[in-house]
Amino acid sequence: MQQRLTQMKQDALAALAQVNDAQALQDLRVKYLGKKGELTEILRGMGGLSAEERPVVGQLVNEVRAAVEEAIGAKQEEFEQAELTAKLASQSVDVTLPGRPLKSGTMHPLSRIIEEMEDIFIGLGYEVAEGPEVELDQYNFEMLNLPKDHPARDMQDSFYITEEILLRTHTSPVQARTMLAKEGKTPVKIICPGKVYRRDDDDATHSHQFTQIEGLVVGKGIKMSDLKGTLLTFAKQMFGPEQQIRLRPSFFPFTEPSTEVDIQCILCHGNGCRVCKQTGWIEILGGGMVHPRVLEMAGYNPQEVSGFAFGVGVERIAMLKYGVEDIRNFYTNDVRFLRQFNRT
Ligand code: PHE
Repeated sequence: MQQRLTQMKQDALAALAQVNDAQALQDLRVKYLGKKGELTEILRGMGGLSAEERPVVGQLVNEVRAAVEEAIGAKQEEFEQAELTAKLASQSVDVTLPGRPLKSGTMHPLSRIIEEMEDIFIGLGYEVAEGPEVELDQYNFEMLNLPKDHPARDMQDSFYITEEILLRTHTSPVQARTMLAKEGKTPVKIICPGKVYRRDDDDATHSHQFTQIEGLVVGKGIKMSDLKGTLLTFAKQMFGPEQQIRLRPSFFPFTEPSTEVDIQCILCHGNGCRVCKQTGWIEILGGGMVHPRVLEMAGYNPQEVSGFAFGVGVERIAMLKYGVEDIRNFYTNDVRFLRQFNRT
């Protein structure tokens, strides 16, 4: 019996030393220590031993059990450790790897121009105003000296919603709204960026929806030269200190006198090229002295105050500044186009 136990211990420890997976370890545990295991069997057989033998064998059984249990425990720990090490290795983070860059959107080129223009005019003491895109005929035309039968309304083929409501065709209605809100107080000094809508057929240079920035100054003694100086300052800040402007006489029902303003072609610097149609100049805005009727309708006395106004085409500025040849690029939202305006 003693010999069998000693042999079993040797066998068990030898087998355990060979084990290299958890399942095999479990099998050995059952084989030796389980309910039907070899040690249990020996314990059961102890009834047949003599009184002298029993404690000796009993002690030996305990020794063998302890040795086998210890060996199993050690193996178990070894496996767990190995498993943990493997897990840590597979889940380890290499902190020296460069991070994955987060893709952030870019600022739309029109928003950039608007922001730049706002900066320029805020620097000149202007405030930024807003007005609705769905506008009353009253503000879009009537209060700008374009009565219902005025032929100039044909110039602006409009999206009417009802007879009295339309999508604004320009940002000029904000002139009337701003002056009315000021209730005759001066000075008025605002710009208003915003979307405008016209029934144009879309092509490379026309769009049914585009963007304008309106400017309006009302106060005592405002003169045409103030308009000119303001626009020259704006042109130099937007296109560089060498930039020149040119004023040509024009007509708008809400300004008198009226002017169209050109900048020297920024591509050929006035020498003449395809973009400026060989003239050396490119039109960027319309403006003039606020018509006395417009001042009057908005609650100002044209004998006491005067003003100037202008309306800049934002797409036009962006096309010149960024060399964009097709206005449709601004609203078709091809990310390959938009991504070029990343600020970083
Ligand atoms: N509203 C005019 C247009 O859309 C531009 C303009 C604004 C002209 C202000 C004079 C004064 O063409």
